[in-house]
Amino acid sequence: MDFLPFARPTIDEAMIAAVADTLRTRWIVTGPRVAAFEKELSKRFSDRPVRTLTSATAAMQVALELMGIGPGDEVIIPAQSFFVTGNVVERAGATAVFVDVTLASRNIDFAQAAAAVTAKTRLLFPTHYNAPLDPDVLDAFAKRHKVRILEDAALAIGSRTSRGPVGVTGDLVSFSFHPNKNMTTIEGGALVLNDEREAAIVDELRFHGIKRLPDGTRDVERAGAKYNFSDVSARLGLEQLTHLDTWCRARERLAHRYFECLAGDDLLAPERLPPRDNPGHSWNMFTVLLPLADLGMSRKAFMDAMMQEGIGTGVSYEAIHLTTLFRKKGFREGQFPVSERIGRETVTLPLFPEMRETDVDRVCETMKRVLRRKAS
Ligand SMILES: Cc1ncc(COP(=O)(O)O)c(C=O)c1O
Repeated sequence: MDFLPFARPTIDEAMIAAVADTLRTRWIVTGPRVAAFEKELSKRFSDRPVRTLTSATAAMQVALELMGIGPGDEVIIPAQSFFVTGNVVERAGATAVFVDVTLASRNIDFAQAAAAVTAKTRLLFPTHYNAPLDPDVLDAFAKRHKVRILEDAALAIGSRTSRGPVGVTGDLVSFSFHPNKNMTTIEGGALVLNDEREAAIVDELRFHGIKRLPDGTRDVERAGAKYNFSDVSARLGLEQLTHLDTWCRARERLAHRYFECLAGDDLLAPERLPPRDNPGHSWNMFTVLLPLADLGMSRKAFMDAMMQEGIGTGVSYEAIHLTTLFRKKGFREGQFPVSERIGRETVTLPLFPEMRETDVDRVCETMKRVLRRKAS
């Protein structure tokens, strides 16, 4: 039986040919294709300036530098997200202030975030996880608490809210083009900015801090990094972008199939499934919370059993405050119970546009069998 990974990028012959053509031009690093890709992304985001970088991680790091966030500043992040948010805040020398997520949205709990604001809070840094974040709530939060917002939209390119595609609204928004995301450039990320002044600073920060002066010489004012994007990746991105909306619709159809197959299962109460009434969600992942402790089964045993049946699964994500990095700063179990529960119980099931509905059926049947094997 075919192996079914939990994520797989779609790469067709047109994409391979476009990349090969780019290689033949010998202009493979930052050049006209990067500019064209950024222009296409910008069109998608109502002409807001966009800069591409080597990863979303780089985009977030640069975003924090752009906002001047550093020692003495507090940044509010959900305890349930990918490790990267905690890491970039640490690397900036700022203080990560964790808050829990809600079980209903699996996204940041805005009431807890509001309660966590202090005079030192500079930034709210939430992730679009199992549902798009509401832009009206984000705007109101920024206004009320006078903080900036960096939306971690790594999983959300192609997601829409009542006000259009994620990226059209808000302050700074970062996307990822890693192969597990809704479209890929192999590695890569993008940062949506407010104006050309910010974009010019990102141009410097992503390429050694270099500033070109009118007399043809160069100067460095800020200690920049080396996060510039390549034309080869950009060419792939241009091709991928033309399919993004179709792929997101395919993801949505497959997610609905998951709901149909899993509804009514006594081991999978509705709260264990992702939020269902979720218009505009691009369904980067389909994650379930499994009653593993009740079944006396470890997550590894479950994932190994699925693997033996030819089905790959993932973990998205562990609770960030319980990593050694943050335990050393005093964080402990029990502080953010919803994040901790998700961190313990979550399993990511296969979901990618080339899957068929029969693949979803196979995943569900296998999962039910593996869980019941243990239950019986
Ligand atoms: C929620 C989230 N944010 C950010 C990232 C970082 O993306 P990148 O690998 O492009 O740096 C990831 C990567 O998996 C992610 O899942």
